Amino acid sequence: MATQRAPENVVGRDELIATIWRLLKRYSVVFTAERRIGKTTVMRKMQAEAPAGIIVRYLDLEKVDSPLRFVEVMLGEVRELLPTTERAKDGFKSLMAAVGGTELGGVVKLPECGKKGWQPALEKTIACICGNHSESTLLFLFDELPYMLQKIMVRERDQGSNENAALAILDSLRAMRLEHGNLRMVYTGSIGLHHVIDSLRGDEYASQPTNEMETVEIGPLAPADAQDLAKRLLAEEKIRCSSVEDVAAALVALTDRVPFYIERLVTHLYEESTVTPETVRQRVARHLTDDNDPWEMEHFRTRIRIYYPGNLDLGDRRVLTRAEIVMTVLDVVATREAAQSIDEVHAAVKASWPVEDRNVVIGLLRKLSQDHYLICDDQKRYSFRFPLIRKWWVLARGLAR
Ligand SMILES: Nc1ncnc2c1ncn2[C@@H]1O[C@H](COP(=O)(O)OP(=O)(O)O)[C@@H](O)[C@H]1O
Ligand SMILES: [Mg+2]
Repeated sequence: MATQRAPENVVGRDELIATIWRLLKRYSVVFTAERRIGKTTVMRKMQAEAPAGIIVRYLDLEKVDSPLRFVEVMLGEVRELLPTTERAKDGFKSLMAAVGGTELGGVVKLPECGKKGWQPALEKTIACICGNHSESTLLFLFDELPYMLQKIMVRERDQGSNENAALAILDSLRAMRLEHGNLRMVYTGSIGLHHVIDSLRGDEYASQPTNEMETVEIGPLAPADAQDLAKRLLAEEKIRCSSVEDVAAALVALTDRVPFYIERLVTHLYEESTVTPETVRQRVARHLTDDNDPWEMEHFRTRIRIYYPGNLDLGDRRVLTRAEIVMTVLDVVATREAAQSIDEVHAAVKASWPVEDRNVVIGLLRKLSQDHYLICDDQKRYSFRFPLIRKWWVLARGLAR
């Protein structure tokens, strides 16, 4: 995780956060966004500025790899929300006794309780807190939730267990949201939740663990906010510029207004004697072609094999990996000037591979859009969502002419 900026140093996002609070009045929410776009920053700002009547708990789940640990982390976060009235002074103790847990110095430990034994502990805790704060809304911000689910799944697989605890956690959280009118959650993380749910669910399990939640897309900063951030960072880092406005404008234009890239670029500009918009352009070109990959762009290529597993049977014992077709689709969209229709992409894919079934291409385009590689217009024509990633893809695949 990147170092977080203090909430007062966060630029923009006020309108987005106002929209999220509005939605949270009635719904729980899933944030979808590309990595590094600023999801954690938005959550931290929400926590710092929560309106009266909303109790917010932020949980970073990146290191959690078992359902038991998840419940322990939850319990540790919420313990002071349990009843403290004279009558129920030992609310936490009695809850611990009920679930067989112990607490030392604020760290909660639950016994290894086997299959689904963690579930009553979680449900009892949440019920107790929701009841104890019936005048307020309790909001959990679950950061890196899909990553946790994936780790739990991998761990289970390694242990030869078929408990499917990750899906049980999702189902359990959903059941609690439905049961308690004053409970809200936000799910987010750098891995697409849809990928994790797909692989958790398998073919026959019909669980829809997020179908009552609203989705909020977190995009790049608004242009004026990106310009503001660029100028602030140039000043903070004492970068000597030909013109601060022009250099900031170049930073904004060349980074697709993603704060992380603006930050990284500005840090490196310190090495230059005087920075001009041209210097910024040269820096971006160098970062995009550097085999040491300072912006970790290779991630956009390597994750394709993980996100798009499996093969396509082409008959005559010929097999093609889905990842191979995905890369061809991206090559086509990256190198064509105009946004591409489904038919145009299908025709181009067929020129390389014998993929007759149009639905294969339709399905992959949809997924690529959910994964923020592509975006489609209202004519269902696809282009790269981020020009910077498109530029990198063209270079990294050797497609530049
Ligand atoms: N609105 C913002 N204003 C200033 N800096 C930001 C903003 N959003 C993100 N950043 C910076 O960009 C980096 C990545 O943001 P982060 O919230 O960690 O992204 P994500 O959680 O989506 O991967 C952080 O170092 C953070 O300081
Ligand atoms: Mg994050």
